[in-house]
Amino acid sequence: MNKKIISIITIISSLSLIGVVVIQLLWANYALELRKEIFNNRTQVFLEKVVSEITNNENCENSHETCPLIKNKSHASCASIFVKVHNINIQKLDSMMKTEFCERMKVNKDYVYGIIDYENKQLITCSNKLYYNELLNTYHTYPIPCYANNNNKYLGIYFPNQNIYILNRMIFLLIVSTLFLLVVIVSFLLTVFILLRQKKLSEMKSDFVNNMTHEFKTPISTISLASEMLTKSSVLESKEKILQYANIIFDENARLKTQVEQVLQISVLDKKKFKLLKKDIDIHAIIENVVENFQLVVQQRDGIINLDLNADPSHIFADPIHFYHIISNLIDNANKYSLDAPLITISTNCIKTGIIITIEDNGIGISSDNIKHVFKKLYRVPTGNIHNVKGFGLGLYYVKTMVEAHGGNIKLKSEIKKGSTFEIFFPFNHNINI
Ligand SMILES: Nc1ncnc2c1ncn2[C@@H]1O[C@H](COP(=O)(O)OP(=O)(O)OP(=O)(O)O)[C@@H](O)[C@H]1O
Ligand SMILES: [Mg+2]
Repeated sequence: MNKKIISIITIISSLSLIGVVVIQLLWANYALELRKEIFNNRTQVFLEKVVSEITNNENCENSHETCPLIKNKSHASCASIFVKVHNINIQKLDSMMKTEFCERMKVNKDYVYGIIDYENKQLITCSNKLYYNELLNTYHTYPIPCYANNNNKYLGIYFPNQNIYILNRMIFLLIVSTLFLLVVIVSFLLTVFILLRQKKLSEMKSDFVNNMTHEFKTPISTISLASEMLTKSSVLESKEKILQYANIIFDENARLKTQVEQVLQISVLDKKKFKLLKKDIDIHAIIENVVENFQLVVQQRDGIINLDLNADPSHIFADPIHFYHIISNLIDNANKYSLDAPLITISTNCIKTGIIITIEDNGIGISSDNIKHVFKKLYRVPTGNIHNVKGFGLGLYYVKTMVEAHGGNIKLKSEIKKGSTFEIFFPFNHNINI
């Protein structure tokens, strides 16, 4: 899919998802407000009920009398502000409040009530002095008619845990909708992540196919040209020329064979179907052998390969052919990814459990973002200059797989434009044959 289309779809989907989240939050807020309103209305209805009950049953004319609660311990705190009150039976009020709020409204005992005198800004009686100020300013009040000398007396109630009570009623819906929303967000992010990864993979695969076609084309066209020459009578007359073209065909065929083998290796490496034929090897001898084969290519570019082989003992238990290819791949990279004359240093050192081989170059280096990817199959650093250098992106994947199959590990330190250092560790005694 086109990169632009993917970006547009991702942006539209992200915006829609943000929209859904915002609307969901607005809905939740709206539901909360609605719940609060219902709570307030119900409180008002119950307060009205209580007031009508206590005033209907008492004789309003029988006006001034001391409240019986003045002797009640739980209300003693308000006694000091208690003046003359209407003959309201506080015990009855208490039991009415219990019936309406504990049993009907189901707020348990989570409420404080009192009679508020707004004229003098004080409480005439209250059920808990701890909430004196809250009760004085409570939103839930209902006027008590025919109360003492004026009508500015109200029955008020305050809920210390009103918000918790309201939230409790909605908690199930809130949790479920948040969970669903999280599932949708995570699924969306995963889908985008997978889409981008698939896109990258398909780009890598098409790069690989392009590279492979290019790499195969050169030997195939050289072979076809050389074999065509062999059919010419002028060439057939000269033994030397026949030998020259036959050699070209032989060499190019060998190159083609190596490349095909390299590509076929992917599935072998993937399925871990390779077999290691391990034996006691002298790594210094093999390293020197690889270096000898690279010497000409490096020297052609005015480069140098330095050897600093200090490991003693220099023997490990490993597959010699794979060990050769591991070193060869790393030197090949050090040479390929250097713009100027390559300066390659190979050193070996012993530690308690095995040998560390370091291959250092002064090449183009690898950015920290790419370091974690270069060991992946088919991965090639996507930078302008590097595209001039041919390769399948398989070398380091092969190296890592093989080093690990030998019980070792590989580390990479690199800095752009300064060079790279590959450090491979091989244990002395890794006997498990694969
Ligand atoms: N020494 C190095 N310096 C800078 N970049 C490197 C070095 N070694 C590897 N790389 C980067 O890591 C990528 C992967 O390397 P790898 O050896 O796996 O593949 P390749 O060299 O592209 O192809 P091939 O399969 O032929 O080895 C390279 O394409 C290159 O971008
Ligand atoms: Mg390579």
